[in-house]
Amino acid sequence: MTVCEYKPGLEGIPAAQSSISYVDGKQGILEYRGIRIEELATKSTFLETAYLLIWGELPTKEELKAFETEIRYHRRIKYRIQDMMKCFPETGHPMDALQASAAALGLFYSKRALPAPSYIREAVVRLLAKIPTMVAAFKLMRKGNNPVKPNDNLDYSANFLYMLTEQEPDPLESHVFDVCLTLHAEHTINASTFSAMVTASTLTDPYAVIASAVGTLAGPLHGGANEEVISMLEEIGSVENVRPYLEDCLLRKAKIMGFGHRVYKVKDPRATILQNLAEQLFDKFGSDKYYEIALELEQAVEEKLGYKGIYANVDFYSGLVYRKLGIPTDLFTPIFAIARVAGWLAHWNEQLGENRIFRPTQIYTGDHNVAYVPIQERT
Ligand code: SDX
Repeated sequence: MTVCEYKPGLEGIPAAQSSISYVDGKQGILEYRGIRIEELATKSTFLETAYLLIWGELPTKEELKAFETEIRYHRRIKYRIQDMMKCFPETGHPMDALQASAAALGLFYSKRALPAPSYIREAVVRLLAKIPTMVAAFKLMRKGNNPVKPNDNLDYSANFLYMLTEQEPDPLESHVFDVCLTLHAEHTINASTFSAMVTASTLTDPYAVIASAVGTLAGPLHGGANEEVISMLEEIGSVENVRPYLEDCLLRKAKIMGFGHRVYKVKDPRATILQNLAEQLFDKFGSDKYYEIALELEQAVEEKLGYKGIYANVDFYSGLVYRKLGIPTDLFTPIFAIARVAGWLAHWNEQLGENRIFRPTQIYTGDHNVAYVPIQERT
């Protein structure tokens, strides 16, 4: 077995072969199954994109209708899961509640073996259908509200916004939210997808796979950055304070949330689309002072760090869109998870064909033949 050179964070090391998505970090290109993200963002829907990612082809009209109907049918979550959520601390983060609830689904539907196609489809439908309901349910329960009530007359994205407020969203709001889900659905082997793949490689059930990925996405260097960006913009407070704030960050060698990327060394194409979505919302519902601050910060970071390939990533503008949709900040990362379930399931499904457990090697840096010292002789 040849041992490759060690690369911290596996930077640049291929860990799998995949035909699900493609990123060109130099040109800022993202494709899902070969289709450019700009095409899908303007012409597709999240559920159609999820179908494309998971099964490799755009569905026919009949296939999409059947998929949408199955998902609508499975939106509700079992009372026992809602009862479990009632025991969660109100101060808990919704990402922790989501990770626990996703794993709990496995108590009802688990199967630890190479699954049949029918089990794969059932798991895909249940997870895509129930994850949004679980996100909304915990949020509502924390406010002591009644159990979440999906609205079967609404499509996937409109229903999620409805579950948060019990008011039907404006068509532009549900369209913008649906495009956000499409943009966040998949991104080759990012940390949470890699986590899903490692878990999936042991042939555990898809609910445990998704629970692993949710826990990984929650970190501030990954999916948790969108929540941190809003706190940063609030801390900056004004356009005039942008550059002094940035100077201070650079002096402290602090990472600026929403910027930088392991692969993109130009502006993340998703950030550009999200900026356009934000501007559509501002045109219709009024502007947001933090947008001006964000524009100034993006300009300043480009001036100071552009030479290092540090530009705005997907997390920089998404929070401003969600704020304008009236979504609470602590749901920003759970929304990223709602979308990325599609990509995680696509890699789970693709990898079942590979059926080889992930077990890398290491470069040992410790000692050998060390003598055991009895406790009475230790000082
Ligand atoms: C996502 O992988 C994916 O595809 C992820 C994602 C997806 O769709 O799944 O795109 C979603 O996670 C987007 C990233 C969200 N995270 C953030 O916005 C947090 C801030 N960003 C950084 O933590 C960082 O850019 C990472 C984690 C995103 C990437 O880290 P890398 O590739 O390990 O880069 P690095 O930490 O090795 O930094 C390389 C250099 C360093 O400078 P030097 O020590 O070489 O002088 O760039 C600097 C870093 O200090 N740098 C930054 C920076 N990001 C990198 N400096 C200031 N601010 C930053 N944000």
